[in-house]
Amino acid sequence: MSKFLGNLRLGVNIDHVATVRNARGSAYPDPTRAALLAQQAGADGITAHLREDRRHISDADIDALVENLSVPLNFEMAATDEMQAIALRHKPHAVCIVPEKREELTTEGGLEVARVENKLAHFIAPLRDAGCRVSIFIAADMAQIEAAARIGATIIELHTGAYCDAHHEGNFAVRDAEFAKLQEMSAYAHSLGLEVHAGHGLTYETVKPIAAFPEVMELNIGHFLIGEAIFSGLNSVIGEMRRLMEEARA
Ligand code: PXP
Repeated sequence: MSKFLGNLRLGVNIDHVATVRNARGSAYPDPTRAALLAQQAGADGITAHLREDRRHISDADIDALVENLSVPLNFEMAATDEMQAIALRHKPHAVCIVPEKREELTTEGGLEVARVENKLAHFIAPLRDAGCRVSIFIAADMAQIEAAARIGATIIELHTGAYCDAHHEGNFAVRDAEFAKLQEMSAYAHSLGLEVHAGHGLTYETVKPIAAFPEVMELNIGHFLIGEAIFSGLNSVIGEMRRLMEEARA
């Protein structure tokens, strides 16, 4: 746990390093290298989502993360037999169950736990038996939280996407309503004995109000960090490329 954050952990999602790699079908940038850098920079954990269509993280990436990380891996996956088998093979520290639709650009909504309660209870039981901490990614909705508690999840991760999107679109009435729901439901989930995490779409501008919730133990953040790293890193990589070019001519 980072000494700077007290009991609030930062999980860094490295999916979008793989998105950039896969856009060219090249061997780089390597998401495991980014994960190791994140670990060195103070990430308390690494999150990676192995999608059914493997659009970013690959099976080999998961193998490499399991092999090389010393911080906990939070393995995000849909509730399918294939993913359950992969999780049971690796036994990651945590498994986060997310909804997955092929046509979506990102994980757009939370899981409808209440609708598939029995199925999900059976699905997560072997993961819990294998020692994984099971987290369910849901909207800030009372019925979903109660269902997550009933099926025996240890953790709920609250989807912060609607709050973040409304903020960045300048729709402050919606943002404030979404924020109020997140605040109320994080306290409610905690009162039911669930550990509360949050994430999706968080940026420098939106993180602080969520990080201030006393019940939230972990934030999982990816897309903004990877995007912002372009602006923090471009200066030094251009300098290194220039140096190599000049060295060749010397
Ligand atoms: N938490 C969960 C469950 C997610 O699915 C994602 C996105 O993969 C994140 C957190 C991170 O969201 P973002 O990449 O928008 O920061």
